Formats: sequence, structure tokens, C-alpha cells
Amino acid sequence: MDTKKSIHGEWSSRTAFILAATGSAVGLGNIWKFPYITGENGGGAFVIVYLLCVALVGIPVMMAETLFGRRGRENPVHTMAILTKEANADEHWPYLGWMGMIAGVLILSYYSVIAGWACGYVLKAIDGSFFGVDAQGAKNLFMAFTASPLQLLFWHTGFMVATMFIVARGLSQGFEKSIHFLIPGLFLLLFLLVGYAMTTDSYFQGLHFLFNPDFSKLTGNAILVALGQAFFSLGIGMGAVMVYGAYLPKKVSITETITIIAVADTVVALLAGIAIFPIVLSNGLPLNSGPGLIFESLPIAFGNMFGGWLFGILFFVMLVFAALSSSIALIEPAVSWLVENKGMERGKACWYAGGVTWLLGFGSALSFNVGADVTVFGKTFYDLLDYLTSNLMLPIGGFCIAIFAGWMMGQAHSEAELAMAKPLHYQAWRLLIRYLATTAIFVVFLSVVGVV
Ligand code: PFF
Repeated sequence: MDTKKSIHGEWSSRTAFILAATGSAVGLGNIWKFPYITGENGGGAFVIVYLLCVALVGIPVMMAETLFGRRGRENPVHTMAILTKEANADEHWPYLGWMGMIAGVLILSYYSVIAGWACGYVLKAIDGSFFGVDAQGAKNLFMAFTASPLQLLFWHTGFMVATMFIVARGLSQGFEKSIHFLIPGLFLLLFLLVGYAMTTDSYFQGLHFLFNPDFSKLTGNAILVALGQAFFSLGIGMGAVMVYGAYLPKKVSITETITIIAVADTVVALLAGIAIFPIVLSNGLPLNSGPGLIFESLPIAFGNMFGGWLFGILFFVMLVFAALSSSIALIEPAVSWLVENKGMERGKACWYAGGVTWLLGFGSALSFNVGADVTVFGKTFYDLLDYLTSNLMLPIGGFCIAIFAGWMMGQAHSEAELAMAKPLHYQAWRLLIRYLATTAIFVVFLSVVGVV
């Protein structure tokens, strides 16, 4: 097993892996979702819980998922089957790969709808819609846009076609290159927006909201949302990282690379928050605007800053690309499963997986307009899918990964894969994965179900 290479080849370098995995991690989750759920959940205290979830649960689980991938070197279902056999564990473990695949398709179905909004906003940026816009104008723009089922379905379709086109051409080809400019470009634009936020009269108020914890605002559900967001944002708990790990050369240190990726991912989310909240507050926008938050606030910045026309276009183009690099990771587990387990040709597998995802996306697209009143448990189709995937499937997936890595897999195997320089570091990881990660996820679940 030690000499096994991925049947798909390997990343050309450690940097290539870091860029691709960061491309998967950094996406709408950081720039669109983190600010809006932070707004909905009261700010500072939520952010602290989120950071703790990333550091103490997210990073150890992400390391575990990567090491599974590198050890198994195949799609998540196969990889889990191989590791299950090696560990002599219960034959049902490969279902973990299944759940991840399904979670990926479900997430992509609505992720693509939101990415479609970003596509639509590229056009709005180009045609000058943001010029001199105020809070009410930006809100009207967003409402008019999302009220149109046709527009949302059009962009959702376009985004899915682009995603499947790239996936059909194979994973690492060509794509590595585009990420080289994507991540640095995104950082630059976020810094620019932070610069603009500094010129508003609510900069410090925004920082206060984001970093000054008021624990009285923290609910049990907010903790679950923070945990779910840690999984969502890092892109873990569903096999995507396992797929990328399968391409990772043996010599590369998992600990170092995963830490770099997690830190970069977190910095992007925090920068987005630092840029957005001052704009929201200084324009009197509600903090809990929900999924529309960045679309209602950032146009004000672009419409009123120097060079805003160009920066607005660049920003939304970057956002679309960041979403693309995540979408590819979301669908890859399903596609590689169809290819490897069902013997399908890659192009055909993309049609199948992409087609199902695209159709499911209709439910989410319509839940922002004509289907807004269709609710189950008081949630729209989009809300329901988001809850099901981020707050249930990903944490359950993460829990199972932690159990498998900490309790099923032989210590010698995980130790060999992680190959840490200091035995103490390995022990720390093992403690976190065996006890802390598992207990934390379990307790958060119980508390939400009302048992604790
Ligand atoms: N991490 C991505 C984001 O924050 O937008 C979303 C995502 C990508 C989740 C890949 C899961 C995944 F496998």
C-alpha cells in the first residue's frame, strides 16, 4: 500500500495541491455565507465559536480526511472500502463515502444557484447598475433580480454547464494554472474592500460587531451553525478532500499543508466580514438580511468608490471563479464514483451527475421567488437543503471520519501517513481526533436535539 499511486496521477508539487485544495475551500462559503450567518447569529461570540470549531475540530478532521485519501488513493467509496478492509472494521464504513457523494450533489445544487447570482452581478457591474447606488437602490436591484425565476435559472444553468465542462476534462489539467492568479487576486480585492470599509463611519462598529463577543446572543443552534460552517468552509466531511488527498505525493506533510489551507480559508472569511459589516452598518442595512447580505451591501461600495466600476467587475468575476473551483470539488466524488464503480465514460458521468444536480437546483432557485411560500418545518427548499447538508450531513460525516481515524484505523497506519516530525504532535492530533472532535460534534448535536 505504501507505494501505491493514484490511478489519476499526482499533483505536480506541494504548491499545486495547496492551491487546488485552497481553491476548493475558498468559495462562496467564505465570502457570501460566513458574513450572512455571522450577521444572523449575533457577531463576535459566533465568530469565536467558529474559530474554535475550525482549529479544534476542522483541522484534525481535515487531516484525517486527507490521510484517508492518500492511503486509499481512489474515490471516497473505494477508498473507504480499502481502509475498512485494512482496519478489519465493519463492512458498512464505505457508506461514509456514499453520504459524502450525496452531500456534494445536494450542496452543489444550491451553490450553483448562488454562484449564478454572482454571474448575474458581473453583468450588473459591467452595465453600471451600481453607479452611485444607495442602500435602497442596492436592495431594489437584488430584489428585482431574485424575483425573476427565469434569470436565476438561466445563470444557474450557465454555471452548471461551465462546472461540468471543466470536470469533464479531468481534474488537475489546466485548472491548477487558473488558481495561481485566483487566490492572490481575491486577497487583493478583499484588501481593497477593507480599505473602502475603513473610509466609512462605521468601521470600528463593524469590527466591534465581528470581534467583540456577546455570549448572551449565542444559542445552541448558533453553535451547530458554526460547526456546520467550519465543515462547509473547509470543504470537509464529504469526501472532496479525500479525492484531493488521493493525488497527494507521499513526501508532502499533511499537517503543514492542511494548516496552511485552513488558515488561508479562515483569513478570507474574516477579511470578507471586516469589509462587509462596516458597509452594512454605515448604510443602515439590517445585519440579518440573510443570503442577500453581500449582494445588497457590496454594490454600494463599488458604486461609490474610486475605480469602483472596474473593481466591481473584477470582484464578481473572482467570486464566480472561486465558486467554480469549489463546485468542481463538490461534484468530483460523484463523477469519479460513476467512472470507477459504474464503468461510465467520464463525459457521460458528468452528464448524469451534473444533470441531477442541475434539476435539483430548480428547487432552490424558485425558493427565492415563486416558491418562497412553499415551506417544510417553516423552511424553504433552499433553507431545508442548507440545513440538511451543512448542519446535519457534514457534521455527521466529520464525526464518522473522526471515529474511523481515531478508533478504527490502526495507529501505525495513521502515524505512517501523517509522518510527523515529533511524536508529540502525532499524539496531540490523535487526542483531538479521538476525544475532542468526536465529543464536540456529539454534544453539539445532542444539545440541539434538546437532550443536553
Ligand atoms: N468550501 C467551499 C466554500 O466555502 O464555498 C464549499 C465546499 C467546497 C464545500 C467543496 C464542500 C466541498 F467539498
